[in-house]
Amino acid sequence: MKNKPYIRCLGVSKTYYKGKSTVTPLNALDLEIDPGEFLALMGPSGSGKTTLLNLIAGIDNPTTGELWVGETPLHKLSPPELTRWRAGHCGYVFQLYHLVPILTAWENVELPLLLDRSLSAADRRRKVASALSLVGLDDRGDHRPSELSGGQEQRVAIARAIVANPKLIVADEPTGDLDRQSATQILALLSRLCSEHGKTIVMVTHDPRAAGAANRILHLEKGQLVTEPEAVLTH
Ligand SMILES: Nc1ncnc2c1ncn2[C@@H]1O[C@H](COP(=O)(O)OP(=O)(O)O)[C@@H](O)[C@H]1O
Ligand SMILES: [Mg+2]
Repeated sequence: MKNKPYIRCLGVSKTYYKGKSTVTPLNALDLEIDPGEFLALMGPSGSGKTTLLNLIAGIDNPTTGELWVGETPLHKLSPPELTRWRAGHCGYVFQLYHLVPILTAWENVELPLLLDRSLSAADRRRKVASALSLVGLDDRGDHRPSELSGGQEQRVAIARAIVANPKLIVADEPTGDLDRQSATQILALLSRLCSEHGKTIVMVTHDPRAAGAANRILHLEKGQLVTEPEAVLTH
C-alpha cells in the first residue's frame, strides 16, 4: 500500500504585491512528497524554487491553496504559529550556511534549542554533542565559522538543522558554494539523514550531479511543475 504523503500542496499559489505590480512565483501547484523521501527541485533562476521551499518550511503562507505537512494545515497558521511549528518540525539549510560568526560551532548548533525552555542544560549538551557527532565534527565544537572550511561550515549548519530532531529538512542550494569534494560529503550526509534517520528532505539545486543524490527530481518552470524542462525540450 502506498504511504500517505507527508507533504501535500493542493493548488498552492503565491503572489507578492509590490506597489502596483504583482509577481506570482507559484501558480496552482500540486505536489505530494512521501515520508522519508529525498526530493530534488530544479529549475531556472526565478522559477519559484525558494518560494516553494519557504512555504513548505513554514516561513511564509501561500496566497491561495492548501499546504499540509503531516497533519498540520500550514496554510491556516498565523506567523507566530508557523514559527512555533517550524522550531519542532523543520530544519533549514542555506547555500551560504548562515552561521552566526561570533558563536562557536557548538553554540551555533545549540541556538535552536534555546527556544525550548523545557530542555535542561544537560539535555541540550547531549543533543548538540549528538548532532555534531552525526555530521563528523565532534572535534570542532569550539571553532568559530571563520576557522572552518566551507564544507565544515555547512556540516555545522546541518547539525543545527537536525538538532531539534525535525522530521523535515529543506535545503536551498546546499552545495552551491562548495568544491566538488565537500559537495559530495554534504550530499552523502543528506542521503544518510534520509536513509538511516528517516528524514524527509526537499533540496533545491542547479547541479544535476547533486540532484542525482535524491530519490526523485522535479523541475519547476514559471511557478509550475513540469515533467521535462523547457531547456531540454528545445534542444
Ligand atoms: N519577498 C518577495 N517579494 C517580491 N517578489 C519576490 C519575493 N521573493 C521572491 N520574489 C520573486 O518571485 C520570483 C521567484 O523567486 P524565487 O522563488 O526566489 O526563485 P528561485 O529560487 O527559483 O530563483 C522572482 O521573480 C522573485 O523576484
Ligand atoms: Mg532561490
